[in-house]
Amino acid sequence: MHLFSTAPFLAVTDVAGVVVDVGPGVKGLTAGDQVVAMLNSFNGGGLAEYAVASANLTVKRPAEVSAAEGAGLPIAAGTALQALRSIGAKFDGTSKPLNVLVTAASGGVGLYAVQLAKLANLHVTATCGARNMDLVKSLGADEVMDYRTPEGASLQSPSGRKYDGVVHCTIGVSWSSFQPLLSDAGRVIDITPNFSAILTSALHRVTFSKKRLVPLLLSPNKADLEFLVGLLKEGKLKTVIDSKFPLSDAGKAWQSSIDGHATGKIAVEIES
Ligand SMILES: NC(=O)c1ccc[n+]([C@@H]2O[C@H](COP(=O)([O-])OP(=O)(O)OC[C@H]3O[C@@H](n4cnc5c(N)ncnc54)[C@H](OP(=O)(O)O)[C@@H]3O)[C@@H](O)[C@H]2O)c1
Ligand SMILES: *[C@@H]1O[C@H](CO)[C@@H](O)[C@H](O)[C@H]1NC(C)=O
Ligand SMILES: *[C@@H]1O[C@H](CO)[C@@H](O)[C@H](O)[C@H]1NC(C)=O
Repeated sequence: MHLFSTAPFLAVTDVAGVVVDVGPGVKGLTAGDQVVAMLNSFNGGGLAEYAVASANLTVKRPAEVSAAEGAGLPIAAGTALQALRSIGAKFDGTSKPLNVLVTAASGGVGLYAVQLAKLANLHVTATCGARNMDLVKSLGADEVMDYRTPEGASLQSPSGRKYDGVVHCTIGVSWSSFQPLLSDAGRVIDITPNFSAILTSALHRVTFSKKRLVPLLLSPNKADLEFLVGLLKEGKLKTVIDSKFPLSDAGKAWQSSIDGHATGKIAVEIES
């Protein structure tokens, strides 16, 4: 059995591999199926040769999608997708031409957010480090800024656009810095909200503020995972893999993930 898993933010929940057995009552999956799954976020359990996945968060993986590419999806692409939807992006060709900013666009979530935003026909401004600007552009960003320059740090769109939405994948930007960059009903989707961000967002809700900070915690679901696996199969979405480690180096993989300088996803590969 081959099983791959990536190292996301809590415990390792994102896996791809082969079904060895199914529980009673499970329909649509049988031993031998290649799959992508998201394990329980509290226990994780993905850094192992065998893992127990809930059938409701397990989807079949077509032959075109490698295990490592599929395992990149559940949390990172799921978060990117849900963040874009909460900005108003639609994936059926009916999106308005919104302007979005993706911060840390070279990261696990950011690279999926850039590609998904383009699939929804949005105008994408992105920030990342200088070394990743070409990559981020090649995956669809319309304008890219180096976050270590004053222009990049200002987060202002080089073409003068106001943002209808921000998929905010890093930390260290206050609401007061975002506020003037937003369109009238612009929203900042904060995927790592701290205590102040949660208070600010509550205040925005009770005051019916038009510009809003919105904390996002992924709500995992099978339909989204199926949609994302389908996009990988059709070649409309790519998983960028920063590096792969064997299970014996899982500690290094984890360290590399929390260091915060990966370009895309880090995978742990389990051979038996
Ligand atoms: N809410 C949720 O459900 C959810 C889901 C997934 C992740 N998260 C959280 O979201 C955050 C992002 O996760 P991730 O895995 O996407 O990040 P990541 O992969 O660790 O992001 C690393 C990348 O971001 C770049 N970067 C770092 N600081 C930056 C800045 N200030 N501006 C622009 N680019 C910057 C780095 O470039 P350099 O190497 O050039 O510095 C690197 O390429 C993490 O805190 C994670 O825990 C939340
Ligand atoms: C998936 O199944 C588990 C266990 O059967 C259940 O607790 C959970 O609520 C279900 N989740 C979804 C998204 O349906
Ligand atoms: C939360 O993050 C913002 C932006 O970096 C910062 O201004 C604020 O001081 C932080 N608040 C807490 C409670 O850490």
